[in-house]
Amino acid sequence: MTEVRAEREEDFDAVRQVLLAAFETDGEARLVEALRLSHAWLPDLCVVAEENGAVVAFALLSRIMIGGDAGLALGPVAVLPDLQKRGLGGAVIRESLRRAAAAGERLVLVLGDPAYYGRFGFVPAAPLGITSEWSSFGDAWQVLALNTVEARYPAPWHGL
Ligand SMILES: CC(C)(COP(=O)(O)OP(=O)(O)OC[C@H]1O[C@@H](n2cnc3c(N)ncnc32)[C@H](O)[C@@H]1OP(=O)(O)O)[C@@H](O)C(=O)NCCC(=O)NCCS
Repeated sequence: MTEVRAEREEDFDAVRQVLLAAFETDGEARLVEALRLSHAWLPDLCVVAEENGAVVAFALLSRIMIGGDAGLALGPVAVLPDLQKRGLGGAVIRESLRRAAAAGERLVLVLGDPAYYGRFGFVPAAPLGITSEWSSFGDAWQVLALNTVEARYPAPWHGL
């Protein structure tokens, strides 16, 4: 049985093992450990999937700034290699996004394959005028709007 839930402190070692197994270097594991010690860390938005008592997948949303506004970065996302392509990555990503939306968060950025992240609603960020050191990656630099905002037109428009 798979349980998708918020990460707890006792998961940290297991999450490290998932990250080390999923990526070629320890860079992503070290990134997560550095983020945990920073103001960017949002524990409610770190999600694990647990199967038979073992952590098998992980997704992280952490704080970034988008212009003057608070936003979120998705990643790293990791699934144990033997268990990939069974929906676990999608499950942890969807749960982290659900939690962020419920918390009133607005924009999430990700650097990743558009063929994968597009299925969660991400679209290229550069055409929307959102730039960063990752913009040069083209369509891999993506954004998702979580909550709608209302555009309000002034009175002259209402006579049309
Ligand atoms: C990328 C990753 C998180 C996806 O998780 P997953 O559980 O394997 O994926 P899901 O089961 O949710 O989705 C499977 C689908 O996504 C596709 N997919 C998986 N990884 C993909 C990738 N990197 N690029 C494009 N498509 C990908 C699969 O082909 C499959 O497509 P289908 O539904 O059309 O058959 C996982 O494969 C992983 O840990 N990879 C290594 C680490 C990594 O690259 N992380 C992402 C960058 S932070």
